[in-house]
Amino acid sequence: MEADYAVDPVRSGPGKGSERRTMSAAILVTGGTGTVGRKLVRKLVAAGRDVRVLSRKDRPGVEPGTPKLPDWPDWFVGDLRTGHGLAKALEGVGIVVHCASVPGHDVEATAQLLIAATRAEKPHIVYPSMIGADRIEDAAYRDRRAIERLLADSELPWTVVRVGHLHEHIDAALRRASRKPWMFVPADTSYQPIAAEDVANRLVDLCTPMQAHQLPDVGGPEIIDAEDLTAYWLNVVGKKRKLIPVRKRGKLYAGYREGWHLAPDRLVGHQTFAEFMTELMAAQGKPAEDKAEAKAAAKAAAKEEKAKKAKEPKPPKEKRRRGQDAATADDASAEASESGDKTPS
Ligand SMILES: NC(=O)c1ccc[n+]([C@@H]2O[C@H](COP(=O)([O-])OP(=O)(O)OC[C@H]3O[C@@H](n4cnc5c(N)ncnc54)[C@H](OP(=O)(O)O)[C@@H]3O)[C@@H](O)[C@H]2O)c1
Repeated sequence: MEADYAVDPVRSGPGKGSERRTMSAAILVTGGTGTVGRKLVRKLVAAGRDVRVLSRKDRPGVEPGTPKLPDWPDWFVGDLRTGHGLAKALEGVGIVVHCASVPGHDVEATAQLLIAATRAEKPHIVYPSMIGADRIEDAAYRDRRAIERLLADSELPWTVVRVGHLHEHIDAALRRASRKPWMFVPADTSYQPIAAEDVANRLVDLCTPMQAHQLPDVGGPEIIDAEDLTAYWLNVVGKKRKLIPVRKRGKLYAGYREGWHLAPDRLVGHQTFAEFMTELMAAQGKPAEDKAEAKAAAKAAAKEEKAKKAKEPKPPKEKRRRGQDAATADDASAEASESGDKTPS
């Protein structure tokens, strides 16, 4: 891992709570149930660290009060929007990795966390922000920019690392967008997706007592044109959609066209989008092979079968009518299966 810590000895020096900020310090992961957070928690537990999850809900599938198993993190119920449960969760904590995402309320939720942390042991706050937070004029990016400022202005030790779009979110967005028979693709736009796994690995490295302030960005291993990415994804999941490149309006896409969400000099993630999709399809029991091709082959075979049937000797007049009806039904079911291709996934 790169040695890109820029330690500030003044801010990370002795003070309230600094004795808690050791490698054995308890680590609180906000959003420990989320895409990045749950991978991070698993890795920290496996590394033998003292880990707590903050969630709005009880541990799923476990009756409250059930004794903790050795490979479980501690679980704290709390809400970043109201501040409920934060003081208790932060008691004795030396490091907080703030992975919670509270869309539309991220800034106030983080402010609640920082107030509670300042009143507690003044833990080191590690925050995964987004590449482009400094420049893209869109709500999610502006909120990350405001959070980065809150951290810099706080009395707490802090580390911010901006990361790229997650593979998981690209897949989910494409799934939603593919509900229609056509898909608008942002023209002149590329993405640099990264695995939540790679982000979690970076965050594990940052769970130290030492703050590093703003670290170099963490981008995915490749930069891919939006249309190519979409076509590739469709092929893997076995869908056919008409792709319509459009110059999307708004400041978000203007920023994307500038490439402000990319880090071409920081291709540091390991897992490619293709590797991620292969793993995802295997987990769902669907090999990531050329499903579109397999579907086309099945359709061609059905057509051939139909043509063969048509060449068979025609039935007498009465029966022929019924035969014709059956052929119509065949057509209808073929159509239905074709339109099944267009059904929302
Ligand atoms: N998404 C991306 O593509 C992307 C890209 C770059 C950086 N990031 C950064 O990574 C962070 C994590 O992203 P993610 O995609 O892993 O998040 P996520 O999967 O959307 O997870 C959201 C988490 O936030 C928690 N949460 C929501 N509201 C809460 C509240 N009021 N109080 C306490 N917890 C609350 C949820 O926990 P419960 O439901 O258990 O309460 C959940 O674990 C983001 O904040 C962002 O800055 C994300």
